Amino acid sequence: MDEGKDHILLGTQPFYDLDIITRPPTLIPRWETEEWTSRLVDLLRPDWTQHQPKRRRILDVCTGTGCIALALAAHLPNDSTEIVGLDISTQAIQLANDNLKSHEQLLEETGNKVRFQLEDIYQPHVEQHFFRDAPLDLVVSNPPYVTHTEYASLDPDVKQWEDRQALVADLQGTQLHRRLIQLVSHWKRSYGRQVASDLPTLVMEIGGAHQVPVLQQELDHHGFNNVKVWKDLAGKDRVVLAT
Ligand SMILES: C[S@@+](CC[C@H](N)C(=O)[O-])C[C@H]1O[C@@H](n2cnc3c(N)ncnc32)[C@H](O)[C@@H]1O
Repeated sequence: MDEGKDHILLGTQPFYDLDIITRPPTLIPRWETEEWTSRLVDLLRPDWTQHQPKRRRILDVCTGTGCIALALAAHLPNDSTEIVGLDISTQAIQLANDNLKSHEQLLEETGNKVRFQLEDIYQPHVEQHFFRDAPLDLVVSNPPYVTHTEYASLDPDVKQWEDRQALVADLQGTQLHRRLIQLVSHWKRSYGRQVASDLPTLVMEIGGAHQVPVLQQELDHHGFNNVKVWKDLAGKDRVVLAT
């Protein structure tokens, strides 16, 4: 997430090859997120093209505008994927649904399905409903990861237009990542994915190298393996992936 001044509040923001509608207070999609989303498609595509037993199910937690969910649905193999995007913010879910509508025809052509739902991932029923009662293959997320101290020095434009809840998290910005690790590890232990694979089960955007050691420790503790970190184009640690 780029906290700098170089994004302008336009009506739409290009993301991959999609035009994502933006509206305050929902976070404007950033180039770093776009970059790793496209890299993830490149990683998944060959395997998902080759093995198509049934639709894969992806959860996009903290979906905001819905940019990640929509880009994945537009670019993963046809008829391969069903994506549910969750967010705690009513405005974000409304906006994500507007974005879904504006890409309806494109998605129809791919046969991939997307829907958005208002949810706080700390609510106990979320685990039951999304991580137990329904099949799952992959969880992706760009959760809030700015620390309270970092927030104080953010550009005033960002603070004025973007929801604090979309940016800031406790525990040095790793609180939501930890919740996701916990949810996905419970799911892996009890159910596991439909198709055996070394591909990641959890993909999370992070704020930089300072968050890696604590997340690595948390992932190890919860039995994840194959933990990797992707850097962004600026050379900053940007994504943690784990199987
Ligand atoms: C950094 S924004 C990411 C938005 C979008 N995925 C993107 O990459 O542009 C984080 C999002 O997390 C949502 N969020 C914060 N706390 C949440 C919670 N407890 N449960 C679900 N969503 C939450 C915020 O409303 C916000 O839309």
